[in-house]
Formats: sequence, C-alpha cells, structure tokens
Amino acid sequence: MCGIVGFTGRQSAAPVLLDGLKKLEYRGYDSAGIAVMDNGTISVNKVRGRIASLCEKTGDGASVPGFTGIGHTRWATHGAPTEENAHPHLSNDGRFAVVHNGIIENYIVLREELIRDGYRFQSETDTEVIVHLIEMYYAGNVRDALIKTANRLRGSYALGVICSEEPGKIYAVREASPLILGIGMDENFFASDVTALVNHTRNVVYLEDGEFAELSGNDIRIFDCSGREISKKVSRITWDVQAAEKGGYDHFMLKEIMEQPAAVRATVAPRIKDGKVDFEELAGLVPELPDVSKIVITACGSAYYAGCAGKYALERLCRIPVETQLASELRYSDPLIDSRTLLIVISQSGETADTIAALRECRARGAKTLAVVNVVGSSVASLADYTVYTRAGPEIAVATTKGYTTQIAVLYMLAVFFAERLGRLDDAPELVEELQALPRRIQQAIDMNPSVPALARKYHESRALFFIGRNTDYAVALEGALKMKEISYIHAEAYAAGELKHGTIALIEEHCPVIALCCNPSVMEKTLSNIVEVKSRGAEVLALPFRDNRRILSAADDLLFIPDADALFSPVIEIVPLQLLAYYVAKANGCDIDKPKNLAKSVTVE
Ligand code: BG6
Repeated sequence: MCGIVGFTGRQSAAPVLLDGLKKLEYRGYDSAGIAVMDNGTISVNKVRGRIASLCEKTGDGASVPGFTGIGHTRWATHGAPTEENAHPHLSNDGRFAVVHNGIIENYIVLREELIRDGYRFQSETDTEVIVHLIEMYYAGNVRDALIKTANRLRGSYALGVICSEEPGKIYAVREASPLILGIGMDENFFASDVTALVNHTRNVVYLEDGEFAELSGNDIRIFDCSGREISKKVSRITWDVQAAEKGGYDHFMLKEIMEQPAAVRATVAPRIKDGKVDFEELAGLVPELPDVSKIVITACGSAYYAGCAGKYALERLCRIPVETQLASELRYSDPLIDSRTLLIVISQSGETADTIAALRECRARGAKTLAVVNVVGSSVASLADYTVYTRAGPEIAVATTKGYTTQIAVLYMLAVFFAERLGRLDDAPELVEELQALPRRIQQAIDMNPSVPALARKYHESRALFFIGRNTDYAVALEGALKMKEISYIHAEAYAAGELKHGTIALIEEHCPVIALCCNPSVMEKTLSNIVEVKSRGAEVLALPFRDNRRILSAADDLLFIPDADALFSPVIEIVPLQLLAYYVAKANGCDIDKPKNLAKSVTVE
C-alpha cells in the first residue's frame, strides 16, 4: 500500500504535499517523492527512506517553487525501495509526472511494448508504464490520454498526474484503490485517505472505480470511463484533526487502545433502537436470511481473528453453520459457495488484496456478500452487496486494536439482529443490554489492570510466549499472540488449550511464560487443568479470568482481570489487557510500535 497526494491552488504546493505525505506515512514508508510544476517545468524530488529525508532535501518544500503538484510515499512491491523506484515517475519528454497506489498486473507486457516503441525506463516499477502510456496517447487533451491509458491497464490504481502543458491542473484516476478529492477555498486536493486532507478541508468527494477527476484551483470536474462528465455527492468529514493525531499518547497504538470504549460505543449505539438491534443498511438482506444455509467469514490478519471470535455468537444465536476462512486460502480453494451462502468479509482498510480477491471469488459463485469495514468508500465496501461500517475513526497504528474490537462488536450485533429477524431469539433484551455494556466493560478492563507495565517488564526478554484458551477464549488467544509478535517481535504461539498435550507441551520448560484465557465457564475446569499441566512442567502462568474466579486466582502466578460479562461477548473485552501487554513489552524492547518492521497498515498486493 502507498499514499498519494495532490494539490493545486494559490499557495506553494511543496509544503502542502509534504504535510499530506506525513499524514499518510503509515501507508508505506520506504521511499517518497514530490513533483511540482513551475513556469511550465516539472521538478521532481525523491528520496529512499522516510518523509523526513524528503523534507530535509527540499527545505520543507521551501526550495521547490510552484503552486501545483503531486506526492507519494511508498511501500515497495515491484522494485526495491530505491530513489530510482520512488514515485513520482516522469515521462521521457518530461511533460508528465505520475504517482500511483496499487499494482499493475499486466505491466510486463506493457513495458515490453513501450520499450519496442522507443520509450526509456528509469525504474523497475510497474508504475512507470503508466507515465509512458500517457505520453504515448497524449494528443493535446490529458483527460483523453488518461482514459486511453486506463483502458490498457489491468490491476488496481489510484493515480495522480500533472502535465506541464496544463499548468494549474492535477488529475486523479481511481480503480480499486482508494482516492478522495478535497474541496478547498480556491484550492483543491486529492489523497489516498482523508487524514491527509482534514487539515485543509472537511468537504470531500469519494471517487469510485472507473472515475477520472480534473482539478484546478477553483474547479473540480469528474468523468466516467467514457469521458462523460458526472456529478458526485460532497461528503463532510466530521471527526477533528486531533482524531488523526496522537492526542498526547506516546504512540498511535496506545491512543487507539484507549479509544476503544468510544469506538465500540460509536459502532454499537446508533444501531440500538427501542431496545432492539437495527441495521437499516441491511433491510434488503432480511428477506433473504431464511434462505441462508451457511455463513462464511473471510478476512486477513486480525480481521480474520475478529471473525473467529464472532463466529461463536453467530452460530449460537442464529443456529446457522459458520465457517471462518483466511482470505488468502479461500480465494484459491475452489470454495463450496453458492447463492445460499452469506459471505461476511471483514477489513479495516477495505483495501487488502487477498480479502478483495476472496470477495470477488465468492460473488462470482453467487454468494450474498456483507462487508464489515472501517474506511468509507473503500474497495471492499464498493464491491459488497451490503456494507456495515465500523465507526472506529481513523486507525493509524499498523497493528490494529480498535479496528479489531469494533469488527467483533458488529459481528455480535449481526448475530442478535439475524437471530431476532429469524425468530430464533428469546432473550433479546438481555443480549442488547450486554451489547450496550461493552464500552463500559472495555473501559473497566483497562482500569482494572494497572499491573500491565510491570508484567511487561517481567516478560519482555522471553524467547517465546504461549497463549492458550478454549472455544471463545481460543479466538482471543489467536489475536493476543499476533499482537505480541507483530509489535514486540517475540515469537508467540496461540494454542487451543486442549491441544497442548498433543505435541506442543514438549516445548514447555522452566519459566516458560504461558498466558491462559479463562473466561468461558463452559470449559473452565478443562482450562484450569491445562494450567496445572503446564505449571507442573515449570511454566509461569499469567491467567486472565473473570475478576471473581477464585479457582483460577489460586492456580496462576500472575493475573490480569476481566470484568464480569456474558462469556459469548467476552472476547471483545479480554483482548484489551493483551493489547496493552503487547504494547508495553514492545515499548520495553524499544520497538517501533506504530510502524513495525516489514509490516504495512493494509497489504494491497498479493
Ligand atoms: C495487516 C495489518 O497488514 O492486514 C493487520 O497489519 C490487519 O493489522 C490485516 O489485521 C488485515 O487488514 P484489513 O485492513 O483488511 O483489516
């Protein structure tokens, strides 16, 4: 995933572009560049490394004259992260510059054709074929050249383009990668997401696939792929600038952990009306529910583990079989999906390539598709039949927290909503009260565990950590282990507690830390016996029971407490102390918590 920005107006473009790129750096940060037009010439500045290096190279933009430009921050996919491979890319005649987020799947064939036609390539990227195609098709009208170019491309692209023949104009093209226009006062913008715009304007237009935009300082025109001009709704960004900043915390991740009560409340509360769960956006799906023979949940990473946690509530309340499948597996598994399948696709960014591909595959096989996403106007949202937005607000830290818990909250609400509409729910009021209590309980789970930083100092030098649990607790163990791995770089393994004795217990040795999730009464005794098993082999056990579980209190070495809740909904609460534990362990190890090595906020390539 990469981030692109564009600006045209009456102030110097370079500082505006650099400011926008800083806000998008979480989307990819191995190289960056800007292209600015001045007196009919395009100047390009690029660096390997972070935006800070680009700011240093350009004097925070002061050394780059011009009022129109584009910028890019990169997460390498084709070609190593080098200055040559950094965007923007220039045409051979120097009249065009292009920035791109996405992947051009047919770039090799296009590159060979262009080289045969005499075009010289400066980089190894897929993107560079775009700028040479534009030069090739340009016959005095940039928009026409863009449409002809787009017709040759296969894959995903959010493009920003400038042409020295058209001073004061920037162009934007969207196909399967996010692209948003910002409407200012005598200035206009585009960006990969709103965090790069909200400092300048709250009035935005979400481009959709196959749309082209031509922006000047005082005008925005949007066209479809046939060149016909279209009108689009202007949306207003409601959250404030601070929402996208750190807000006084050391890291975005800690801020976003602490935002979870509010995020879950924002996700749940608007959908509870007259004591019932109500999804207006699913009115069209309700008549089809009786025909659903199975639910398949698909996603990647933490979103997949959110699905693993929500599966229990969906099965228990709706009495419909629920399968969870990794999107990267589902897309190639020749899945048994048909018109009686409801596919629930979960994605914070809505741009994860494997998730999009799995969604397309299941749609093609006739599945009804319901997206649970956080980013408005994202590709997953555009492709699904129905979309339920989590309302977590912008999530900047690469390791998701509020994105994950709001996803689970939506799945719980769907379980209650579907079961009630299917006439299979006889304790709706109690369950709705449990849903409404979730924000409070998440806050309690934060407040009840001031010992987390001390525990982190105890475990931060461990070679490996084991997370165990059964049933709903196992789903929590999966996400708890992933959080620990992705930000502290300590190996962590989640295990179904009942499986330990079939092999993995061989790894348990003196002082080996085992984190035991113990919030499911139906399997409590069994989990307790697993705690005893590992302790008898020298393990140190950190248990997470409901606060008044005396049996567990006496068996474990350390404890983190979970406020009493309905076990069916407890995963969204249990995970919070584990998010904090991973955070403080990573902090003790001096890790780059918000931008862990090798990771990206959303992997928009396969
Ligand atoms: C990974 C992120 O790249 O993608 C995870 O680091 C995330 O945090 C996973 O869970 C899926 O991303 P998304 O946007 O589809 O939920």
